[in-house]
Amino acid sequence: DQHKLQAIIAHSKEYGFVFPSSEIYDGLGAVYDYGQYGAQLKKNIRDYWWKSMTQLQENIVGIDAAIFMHPTTWKASGHVDNFSDPMIDNKDSKKRYRVDHLLEARADKLEEEGKADAARLLIGKMEQLLSADDLPGLKTLILEEGIVCPLSGTANWTDVRQFNLMFSTQLGSVAGEAGEIYLRPETAQGIFVNFLNVQKTGRMKIPFGIAQTGKAFRNEIVARQFIFRMREFEQMEMQFFVRPGTELDWYAHWKETRMQWHRSLGIPEDKLQFHDHAKLAHYANAAVDIEYNFPIGFKEVEGIHSRTDYDLRRHQEFSGKKIQYFDPEINKNYIPYVVETSVGLDRTFMMVLSEAYAEEEVATADPAKKDTRTLLKLPPRLSPVKLAVLPLVKKDGLPEIARTLMDECKQQFHCIYEEKDSIGKRYRRQDAIGTPFCVTIDHQTREDQTVTIRYRDSLQQDRLPISMISQLVQDAIR
Ligand code: GAP
Repeated sequence: DQHKLQAIIAHSKEYGFVFPSSEIYDGLGAVYDYGQYGAQLKKNIRDYWWKSMTQLQENIVGIDAAIFMHPTTWKASGHVDNFSDPMIDNKDSKKRYRVDHLLEARADKLEEEGKADAARLLIGKMEQLLSADDLPGLKTLILEEGIVCPLSGTANWTDVRQFNLMFSTQLGSVAGEAGEIYLRPETAQGIFVNFLNVQKTGRMKIPFGIAQTGKAFRNEIVARQFIFRMREFEQMEMQFFVRPGTELDWYAHWKETRMQWHRSLGIPEDKLQFHDHAKLAHYANAAVDIEYNFPIGFKEVEGIHSRTDYDLRRHQEFSGKKIQYFDPEINKNYIPYVVETSVGLDRTFMMVLSEAYAEEEVATADPAKKDTRTLLKLPPRLSPVKLAVLPLVKKDGLPEIARTLMDECKQQFHCIYEEKDSIGKRYRRQDAIGTPFCVTIDHQTREDQTVTIRYRDSLQQDRLPISMISQLVQDAIR
């Protein structure tokens, strides 16, 4: 539903959630900035993940590795040789496309035309050719399907070639002096190279995990669909180290645990699904995606991968340092196996926003007239602002009472004070940023210390003692 996606993009910009990067210079492709409410929502999602993956898991610890890593890291990890996508150039427009995106777009079109079988057949063929790395076969498929460049309108294609997705830059001041390094395309490698440091200093016993959140960078070619596919994005990853032979049990465990986490964000069950990988990444022996039904259809939010001992073994080989674990229970040394959970923070943000965004018809004072309100039905614990404190008028001592409530509450959670505009307008603004509670201070408050609390989703209003407000909000966001 492109219309809903466009509405969400517009809403995100209008209310300070997501802006195109460097917008005054007309933006930068597939790079975005988070505004005042977006940054807070993103932090709340990150904090929620961090708490559920570290604080609530006694055998998982969190680290924060650097974005820059020794260049040999990426040789060992396989990214220098394998982290590429098949691309094709149109000779007339000189535009470059990811082959899978061109074919997926063609399949979408077939589906729109009611040719669902043909679409499925095409995707099946594509997945087969991709997993066989059959580049000439992919070119043939593009020609057979008569796919033309959206810009030039011609089918004048080059051969299909592999392009590496990593960004590189120079470390130090002298260009070219063997100082080429990469911006990390995943956070996982910062965990693998620290395996021994953390295991030894934390006296960790297998099975245990290491978690981290942070930026990753990929030179995505067809980057579109808002913050779904970005060139600079954030990952939240956890590597779980296990005894060889137990990895598929842990894989099943983390599959379920992570699906449960997405549901705990308030995402209904029927909008989430597992999708097994047709093509395994170069490091995996089992892999599944958790997909969410975005306005653009079911798409990946998280990947769960059984990575075997591939990464640690390769780092042992390339560094010449022994990376092993002595397992006292079986009296053996081994290189641990790894089950990884890897979720995109920006994609989770987009999922939460897509789920929360709603346009509702509401009654007005005039029974013949209806009005619409746009709101974000965010789970209160994720809302950027938890409470809005609104004095009915800017006089008669009401702002002072409101300020006292603000002072009490802002120590506990994020709240906002607003005295401009009519109460109705102020409510709508809070709906639009997802604030679950609004409290209005009126003249009665001066007499009996009660306020009106208004609930975002139900629109219900209650009269409560002002002394109860802080606790009520805290209970709701716990
Ligand atoms: N360490 C494993 C790994 O990086 P991945 O499937 O390539 O696996 C994991 O990435 C997650 O990172 C994805 O499920 C997605 O949520 C997010 N992600 C990957 N590329 C992205 C991009 N270009 N923009 C936004 N999120 C991205």
